Amino acid sequence: MTTSFPDDFLWGCATAAYQIEGSPLADGAGASIWQRFSHDPRLMAAKGETGDIACDHYHRMADDVAMMKEMGLKAYRFSAAWGRVLPDGIGRVNEAGLGFYERLVDTLLANGIEPLCTLYHWDLPAALDDKGGWLNRDSAEWFAEYGRTMFERLDGRVKKWVTLNEPWVITDGGYLHGALAPGHKNVFEAPIASRNLMRAHGAAVKAYREVGKHEIGLVVNLEPKYAASESPDDKAATARATAYMNRQYLDPAIHGKCPAELAEVFGEAWVDWSAEDLALAKQKIDFVGVNYYTRNVTRADPTNWPLAANMVRQPLATYTTTDWEVFPRGLTDVLLWVKDNYGDPAIYITENGAAFFDPPVAEQGRIEDPLRVSYLRHHIAAVGKAIEQGADVRGYMLWSLLDNLEWSLGYSKRFGIVHVNFGTQERTLKDSAKFYREVIATNGACL
Ligand code: NOJ
Repeated sequence: MTTSFPDDFLWGCATAAYQIEGSPLADGAGASIWQRFSHDPRLMAAKGETGDIACDHYHRMADDVAMMKEMGLKAYRFSAAWGRVLPDGIGRVNEAGLGFYERLVDTLLANGIEPLCTLYHWDLPAALDDKGGWLNRDSAEWFAEYGRTMFERLDGRVKKWVTLNEPWVITDGGYLHGALAPGHKNVFEAPIASRNLMRAHGAAVKAYREVGKHEIGLVVNLEPKYAASESPDDKAATARATAYMNRQYLDPAIHGKCPAELAEVFGEAWVDWSAEDLALAKQKIDFVGVNYYTRNVTRADPTNWPLAANMVRQPLATYTTTDWEVFPRGLTDVLLWVKDNYGDPAIYITENGAAFFDPPVAEQGRIEDPLRVSYLRHHIAAVGKAIEQGADVRGYMLWSLLDNLEWSLGYSKRFGIVHVNFGTQERTLKDSAKFYREVIATNGACL
């Protein structure tokens, strides 16, 4: 059996706090912007669906870790809810909240599973949103304080840290189009939030260097853009879309610069970053985390504000239930793009997976999800191809361990390789979980 994956390749699954934990206000936790957003029917698309119970992971953590062990996971990427640790976002530490993450980490380690901790997966403490949230420049200090609290307590046990998850989605969804918390629709705010997020990222990395001894990185969602035609307009649209989604955060973090195209995209709402802001954003990171789901065939479209670009639907392609084209080769392409454009960094795939309709649990407890199995097979093979071509990919975190709250879209978009019955909280391994167990056991040779 041959495999492209190194012996110590880190096979794992990923989740995020608000999407799975439930009990978001338990044991003295402070409310987050997602608590507010999901409870507001004017904002939440899947009205009435909240993270109040989710997968009840807060109470079922030990069983969930046992299930991870049964699947042979070598790593688990989770996020900490900032407001459990610091209910007001800054200041008072809530031992009970921090204690939950200590127990989670200890349970993982006791089961031989390496923890990867994301500090910020979108659940800003509401108390900080009341001070302006990511629009407030002080957010860099707030985030560094939270980071330091986590590092001091857990860096002895957690060896891989992530500052922010998908800053592009935070600003595009949260500040430009309003589909995600805090639900603002303001083109002037989006570039400010982006800059403050990257200042916060830099401040947390600096804090890590004072306290931590292991690795810290940034997670970005990358969607390779392919021009729909050779026309200069489509090519320019593709360059704008690439700058907007794929370079907006990596360029400042690694090169200390912002892509010139962003000024075109944002027009008068664009503000140049000061030299200090650029210097703060550019800190040495130990790895780049890549979340990959789909690609985008791009054409110029002046009616699509503010990017003046749009995607072209592919008539022969398979689309997931989140309406994303299945395109495994894009993952190879994007990994090589990161290698070539950002100095051949260490890379972890921090998310990859798909939402499909799953049949109900059959009597014999089986859930056949052949589309997800096929998606995983081809995407994991695409990672192998990138490794063969020299990309330094060190791990793959499948999104997601469990069916969970797909943010404003609610519980109907099932990404899990483990089915969750949201009435009874019963977990059932789908065929994709059994397939992934085999992938891990053979280090990718069974593909
Ligand atoms: C990106 C996000 O990080 C995660 O929270 C989300 O559920 C998945 N992608 C699927 O959309």
